[in-house]
Amino acid sequence: MNIVIATSEAVPFAKTGGLADVTTALAKALQDLGHEVSLFLPYYPQKYAAGAAADLPLASTGHDVSVPVGGKKRGGRVLRTSLPDADVSVYLIDQPLYYDRRELYGENGADYKDNCERFTFFSRAVMEATRLLDLRPDILHAHDWQTGLIPALLKLEYGRTSQFAQTGSVITIHNLAFQGQFWHWDMALTGLDWKHFNWREMEFYGHLNLLKTGIVYSDFITTVSPTYAHEIQTKANGAGLDPVLLHRADRLIGILNGVDMSQWNPETDPYLARNYDSQTLATGKAACKADLQKRLRLPQRPEVPLVGMVSRMTDQKGLDIIAGCIDAILVKDLQMVFLGTGDANYESFLTTLAERHPDKVSATIGFNETLAHQIEAGCDMYLMPSRFEPCGLNQMYSLVYGTVPIVRAVGGLADSVVDATADNLRSGIANGFSFVEYHADALLATVKRALAAYQDQQQWRQLVATGMSADWSWQRSARRYVDVYQHAALRRTVAWYRAHPPEET
Ligand code: ADP
Ligand code: GLC
Repeated sequence: MNIVIATSEAVPFAKTGGLADVTTALAKALQDLGHEVSLFLPYYPQKYAAGAAADLPLASTGHDVSVPVGGKKRGGRVLRTSLPDADVSVYLIDQPLYYDRRELYGENGADYKDNCERFTFFSRAVMEATRLLDLRPDILHAHDWQTGLIPALLKLEYGRTSQFAQTGSVITIHNLAFQGQFWHWDMALTGLDWKHFNWREMEFYGHLNLLKTGIVYSDFITTVSPTYAHEIQTKANGAGLDPVLLHRADRLIGILNGVDMSQWNPETDPYLARNYDSQTLATGKAACKADLQKRLRLPQRPEVPLVGMVSRMTDQKGLDIIAGCIDAILVKDLQMVFLGTGDANYESFLTTLAERHPDKVSATIGFNETLAHQIEAGCDMYLMPSRFEPCGLNQMYSLVYGTVPIVRAVGGLADSVVDATADNLRSGIANGFSFVEYHADALLATVKRALAAYQDQQQWRQLVATGMSADWSWQRSARRYVDVYQHAALRRTVAWYRAHPPEET
């Protein structure tokens, strides 16, 4: 199939979270399955220059787009590169006014005020570039609110042209907490008729809602784990969009993310003090642990349990329940390392904690890809007590790296971590620790269980081996996406033939 993926972030060009890992890994896995993939994202020059993409050659396609944004026309260059070590074409939409900024979505805790305009432009630019490049995709695959307008543009404008007549659309929801909601006057930016600003289409309690728009207009909707697909159809977890999702339940599918083994693999990871596999885990992890303790100026004690966390520091990630039991956790003999950025109050909570417990806690505030890998490899346990978690990648990275996850059983965490109950241990399926109630006491009890299990080296080795031996690669998930694409494309083809019956002779 011929697939166009549109996203606001992708590794190694720009990343704030798991979305970036997923879009790139999916594109590569689809290409490996024999499909043709074009990946579109904005050209953020500051991120491009600072990251691992800096050395990739960037060429002009010779095409410029010019699209309506509100009352004006805005132009942009279409640049081209490809994914490192993969034959996936990457098209970058260059418009410095919108994307030559320090960050992707906002600075100092505040979103950029023109985010609706920035991503409306991007969505229109993707459609226009796809037309100019004559890609004629079978599928347009949008991700999150930033590209939520694309399925609407396909249905209401481009789908009427022969180039797009048989193109199906899919939107993937990575996180319902971010919906791209803007005041109603921003509807004018989209260039679509105001008649679509109603509760069945683009309007949501008086606001423009770009994620809702994507959900309403896509042929299929996917989200990043089967459990999250169920959760978001409930009032408790639907973030207000549960009625819309229930309405489209027959088109909503949960597909668990995978692990990009070219990026996250302890055997080949270039950031580690020593590479290892399941056979050499003991010596490999010991070397990575000693290296991590040294780097973070923690006492180099091989026997002490080392617990890690790499995360956006937001309400989603369970930092409030960590705060609720951290003193009781730190009574125990263990070390903890935190890496993240986000809400100022969580950042200062962690910084203060590290200052108070210099021998036990390390907190690094910032975004640091290298350290993230070193934490996954060097720790014995990984903490992810999320309030909600559409999929979560770090618990899967942990499993691959022989680092036992301690998670709350929600969303993708429930779909990937099997609690070390007596039954699960006996049947050899346990790979971590989980709890259900979102409460500091439940987290504390689970951390204590994990620390006790750590003392039983035979049981611990079994947990680690179960996690490391599972197949977390993208191939399986990519095949499920192809199934969805085929259904979507087929629906469009049937619709096209219905609209163009053969002439009677
Ligand atoms: P989310 O997308 O909700 O942030 P995921 O678990 O899906 O959560 O993915 C997070 C990704 O971002 C992982 O690859 C993780 O290692 C990375 N990450 C998050 N915060 C940081 C940070 N401060 N430094 C480096 N990598 C980070
Ligand atoms: C979102 C979710 C996370 C998921 C990621 C990639 O950021 O918060 O759970 O793993 O997207 O799909």
